[in-house]
Amino acid sequence: MSDVTATPAAHELSREQVARVDPSGQLGDVLALPDQLRDALWRAESAIMQDWDTSAGLVVAGMGGSAIGGALARAALGDHASRPIFVTRAYGIPAWTTPDTMVLCASYSGETEETLACYESAGALGAKRTVVTTGGRLAEMARADGVPVIPLPAGFQPRAAVAYMIVAALEVVALCGAGPRLTSEIDVAASHLEQLVTEWGPDAPEDSLAKDLARGLFGTTPVIAGAGLTVPIAYRWKTQINENAKQPCFSHELPELDHNELAGWEGAHEVGRFSAVFLDDSDATPRVKQRMDLTEQMIAGNAVASFRLETRGQTAIERVLSLVLLGDLVSIYLATLRGVDPGPVKVLDDLKAALAKL
Ligand code: F6R
Repeated sequence: MSDVTATPAAHELSREQVARVDPSGQLGDVLALPDQLRDALWRAESAIMQDWDTSAGLVVAGMGGSAIGGALARAALGDHASRPIFVTRAYGIPAWTTPDTMVLCASYSGETEETLACYESAGALGAKRTVVTTGGRLAEMARADGVPVIPLPAGFQPRAAVAYMIVAALEVVALCGAGPRLTSEIDVAASHLEQLVTEWGPDAPEDSLAKDLARGLFGTTPVIAGAGLTVPIAYRWKTQINENAKQPCFSHELPELDHNELAGWEGAHEVGRFSAVFLDDSDATPRVKQRMDLTEQMIAGNAVASFRLETRGQTAIERVLSLVLLGDLVSIYLATLRGVDPGPVKVLDDLKAALAKL
């Protein structure tokens, strides 16, 4: 740990301070989210893709930073999804997959064994397949099989390519008839995000929301709660805090957490320092808001700190992306406060290497 952690909770979160722990420029990748969305749109439109109507819907198969795009895309579609959209993070695709199902295999590296297995099982079941990747064995197999490939730009950490993964999933949704095309909404969302980058980015005042949140969460185990549209965003916060700030973080969803986790909070002080973050959607139903209010009140006394945040924007894609941006920034600021490099995830690579030898 470097001396930047000497008085972490008070330490400034300027561009310079982040740069001290961030040689690979993860902050820059988060701040470029609006441009990445536009670039992703352009790439998806330029990729030569077949219009495949698949009446049984869409399965997105991937792991970690490559799976989250499918989950966020599904949240952004909400009630506009006209066919089932299912995200699987496993070695296989659901047994109900048929030749009328589209399977999008998403792997940034193209080398993730679970996703390679899904690609093969989708082929064995005769499903239509599409691949989104930078290359690797997944691209090789797809090219050999004549399966369309949506190419991704190289040079990112897989989790930092989230804009590309969301747009690719939405493009495939439209191509297979599982939902409407959101091109213009994504374009508008990119402009909306630019304002939020200014509001929450490193050049914003030290008491701006994202910096405040990072200081409030520092030294605690955050537990993130989502509901409806914010459920996959809560999971994104968890995984970004895990991988960027290298610390434990957990997520759960309402209403389910009111039937179990709520009781666990009663003993929180005795077993650790837990903070609570509630991700509210500005468009949630009054009943969900009432439930979140009550749940927060009941948990807050047992948490080191408690925060209630709301999505920003008009359309669902704007609202989803607003809290994805906030969580990504908070995770980088937390890494800075902890004095850790947000980029490499060596332990994940070590695990993959160890598995490859077995
Ligand atoms: C690393 C990351 C991981 C990977 C996951 C799958 O930045 O986010 O969660 O996304 O290990 O690897 P890929 O994305 O290459 O299929």
